[in-house]
Amino acid sequence: MFENKGGEKIVDEHRQGEIFEVIGNTSKARRVYIESYGCQMNFNDSEIVAAILDQHGYQPTGDLEKSDLILVNTCSIRDNAEQNIRKRLTIYNKAKKSNPSVVVGVLGCMAERLKDELLAEKMVDIVVGPDAYRSLPQLIEQAQHGNKGINVLLSKEELYDDIQPVRIDSNGVSAFITIMRGCNNMCSFCVVPFTRGRERSRSSYSIIAEAIELFEKGYREVTLLGQNVDSYFWTNPEDNSVVSFARLLSLVADISPMLRVRFATSHPKDITDEVINTIAKYPNICKYIHLPVQSGSTRLLDLMKRTYDQEWYLERINKIYSVIPGVAISSDIIAGFCTETEEDHQETLKIIREVKYSMSYMFYYSERPRTYAERNLKDDVPIEVKKRRLNEIIQLQNEVSLQHNLADVGKTFEVLIEGDSKKSNEFHKGRTTQNKMVIFPKNGSFSKGDYVFVEITDANSATLKGHIVN
Ligand code: 5AD
Ligand code: SF4
Repeated sequence: MFENKGGEKIVDEHRQGEIFEVIGNTSKARRVYIESYGCQMNFNDSEIVAAILDQHGYQPTGDLEKSDLILVNTCSIRDNAEQNIRKRLTIYNKAKKSNPSVVVGVLGCMAERLKDELLAEKMVDIVVGPDAYRSLPQLIEQAQHGNKGINVLLSKEELYDDIQPVRIDSNGVSAFITIMRGCNNMCSFCVVPFTRGRERSRSSYSIIAEAIELFEKGYREVTLLGQNVDSYFWTNPEDNSVVSFARLLSLVADISPMLRVRFATSHPKDITDEVINTIAKYPNICKYIHLPVQSGSTRLLDLMKRTYDQEWYLERINKIYSVIPGVAISSDIIAGFCTETEEDHQETLKIIREVKYSMSYMFYYSERPRTYAERNLKDDVPIEVKKRRLNEIIQLQNEVSLQHNLADVGKTFEVLIEGDSKKSNEFHKGRTTQNKMVIFPKNGSFSKGDYVFVEITDANSATLKGHIVN
């Protein structure tokens, strides 16, 4: 787990914030250095970009100084995410000074949001939005001849369906599969619909083919990704039959009982009984749902245009807990949205206690250009109040997470081994179906990609500890 400077809690496999990953470490003819920030979708997009560039002779490198091409896949979700990326751009420009032939490019949401502003600031050579990665090779070539370039066209169709992501920095056990792109919801605080465009679902055939290939290569866990996976909806052009998200989940789960299936993110208004029943039915669909509430206050949920109220949300939670025994639920929470009062804030604290989230991603509100909130609502909660409320939320969530984890002590869970623990190669790390990280000593018999039973002996708010009992 990462704790970023703003005190927001960011978990390694997930989402917006200041986490980043460097792809690759090989060295060949032309070398590309890619840094990714933000959500899992961005990380998966960087793998697609690596695949497009691979076809044009670019090999990934982890060494900024030795690269011919520096790309940063960016996040616009909050202002501080953008500020951090700006700092990185200054560093890339230093590398460019020592080697002027280096091309620097901005990809992703910030490219889409700021468009030619980034070129005008002379920070970068190319600017490419999330739907325009196929044009990267041409833009790079033009930039090498001194012509800076931009392509931020959003598409209603682009799904990169035919491109097999290059899983360079992967652990070889778990992989992301993007099942849909864009978002049609218009949550009033969110910039994503403006940076990632309209919602479109990928063909079930190509999703399943990708999952089968991963399984055959030894992967044991796939996470189906989309801004709002529950609205996945694909019509087969051959016979007009439709595939819903619940159906897709079962199709992927049917590949093998040895393949774990995860998904993110669900929207409370769209998660259906059919999805909940499907999760319960398949042992290999993980018993973990990320169901962001954003706020506990019905008045704020209305202003946020989330299209559900507290009562609806709690009904969904009760349904999930009653149908899927042992399921863990996590959330995204925003402190200090427009007009939030102490009473509204108390409602958020109440919902954390009531739902007993296993963990949450917590942020204070950051006004984003073009959103409904920016155009129509007043960002009137003072920053000190936002920060104080966020701290209260984090503190409460930490206590709730600790209780959640302590309740696992003495129990035995099936854990998929992901690799060595960060601190010691005498320990494995792996996850339970509830998405909890477990650290346990190796016993010589098992390795990465194996399932083992681990009895939990200790826990803190972030991690479980235990030993193998196979
Ligand atoms: N300010 C703060 N947090 C935001 N999020 C989205 N937009 C904003 C914003 N303007 C959070 C939401 C969302 C998560 C990905 O980021 O909680 O679910
Ligand atoms: Fe943003 Fe709402 Fe879409 Fe999530 S569902 S990406 S918060 S608009």
